[in-house]
Amino acid sequence: MEQFTLKKPIKHIAFIMDGNGRWAKKRLMPRTYGHKVACKRIIEIVRFVRSIGIKVVTLYAFSTENWNRPEDEITKLFQYLEDFFNEYINEFIKEKCRIQVSGDISRLPEKTQKIINEAIDLTKDFDDYVFNICLNYGGRQEIVRATKLILKDVKSGKLDIEKLDTEIYKDYLYTKGLPEIDLMVRTSGEKRISNFLPYQLAYSEFIFTDTCWPDFTPDKLKECLKEYEKRDRRFGAIKE
Ligand code: IPE
Ligand code: IPE
Ligand code: MG
Repeated sequence: MEQFTLKKPIKHIAFIMDGNGRWAKKRLMPRTYGHKVACKRIIEIVRFVRSIGIKVVTLYAFSTENWNRPEDEITKLFQYLEDFFNEYINEFIKEKCRIQVSGDISRLPEKTQKIINEAIDLTKDFDDYVFNICLNYGGRQEIVRATKLILKDVKSGKLDIEKLDTEIYKDYLYTKGLPEIDLMVRTSGEKRISNFLPYQLAYSEFIFTDTCWPDFTPDKLKECLKEYEKRDRRFGAIKE
């Protein structure tokens, strides 16, 4: 693969991996085939992102709203997720990449939970790279959860309510300790965030590409990165 240099640094990139079903349908295949191919893309994108020095990647894999899908699709999705961790856990360990989850995995099948918890445990001490996967994740739910945790800490005297600010609030989110998300890419042409990281994306750049996730190769990501490099991030200030 040709060397790619990132001209504008990115500490944290996030993806809404969308369009698997439509991609498969177009090929007269079941939606679940799209999810299977999607997992191949995940590892390719993760490897590429690492090769260009982006340390943290967050992926939206299953939302709190995705429970509304047919049971057999959900079952297959979690199966592919298990296969993904089984197949690549050694690579994550070798690359010193910490696997972490955003979301409440207690509702996932027991076997899936076990595999994920093992992967988290095996990589918990690494911090060269972070692979943050959002599972049964909902942004509004995360904010309510954070608020409850804050109230508990206020009640127990651990937190002085007067000290609470937007920085401290971040410590109560699943993404505690992770850098700000510089760029969020959503595939498949939909232009919405679908309950994905509303707090964390407050100042991120957004790119919406028509490519469906199973077609989203590192070359496609390079195009997004080139677009990102042209963005002028002002953060409310003015440029001379
Ligand atoms: C994204 O692809 C994967 C998940 C949401 C789990 P979709 O399954 O949403 O594919 P489309 O959007 O229906 O094509
Ligand atoms: C968002 O995609 C969730 C994930 C990619 C995991 P959806 O396909 O579920 O979102 P909507 O339904 O188009 O908003
Ligand atoms: Mg979708």
